[in-house]
Amino acid sequence: MDPSRITLRPFKLTDADDLLSWAGDDRVTKSGRWKSLTSKEEALTFIEQMCIHHPWRRSICIDDRSIGFLSVFPGSGDERHRADVGYAIAVEYWGQGITTAALKMGIPQVFDDFPQVLRLQAFTSVDNKASQRVLEKAGFTREGLLRKYICLKGSILDVVVFGLLSSDS
Ligand SMILES: CC(C)(COP(=O)(O)OP(=O)(O)OC[C@H]1O[C@@H](n2cnc3c(N)ncnc32)[C@H](O)[C@@H]1OP(=O)(O)O)[C@@H](O)C(=O)NCCC(=O)NCCS
Repeated sequence: MDPSRITLRPFKLTDADDLLSWAGDDRVTKSGRWKSLTSKEEALTFIEQMCIHHPWRRSICIDDRSIGFLSVFPGSGDERHRADVGYAIAVEYWGQGITTAALKMGIPQVFDDFPQVLRLQAFTSVDNKASQRVLEKAGFTREGLLRKYICLKGSILDVVVFGLLSSDS
């Protein structure tokens, strides 16, 4: 994959068909809190409510077509110095370094957009080796194992926590 084809940009309603093709795939959504989408109407609502109104959710694009997302959700109050990172891309693009490239692209933008954020953190299930590798390749530090930490789609999971400080880069 030529890295110049990979971009990050805000979602648009015109992404609905492309978004449905990956956000409607259980293999892509299994690690997320939302269920796979099943119609263009759901995709349009999702883009409007969950992407356009999200504090920082970007479409990962190839040649400007949406193939996934990268999200950063800053905390509030006493947690405003840290932000949670999440991402997913379409199965046909797995294993080509695209998420790592997108995350590396997004990190400086996030620290720029949220000067109060000093720490990015991500939680991956212990089984999600691909996601752990993405975080390592993007410069995050593996900080520890949190047992029975997250309830995801009815399962209580052990997770690995990764962190990256603005002062790390
Ligand atoms: C996790 C995910 C985003 C990775 O995206 P990707 O674009 O394929 O990631 P990259 O190609 O940048 O890097 C993947 C790395 O994981 C490695 N990997 C993949 N599967 C692996 C496995 N089962 N065991 C060990 N390493 C694995 C790849 O070899 C690659 O590492 P390398 O470059 O050192 O060879 C993608 O699989 C996905 O969308 N999964 C579903 C959603 C998800 O799990 N999101 C994260 C929630 S925490």
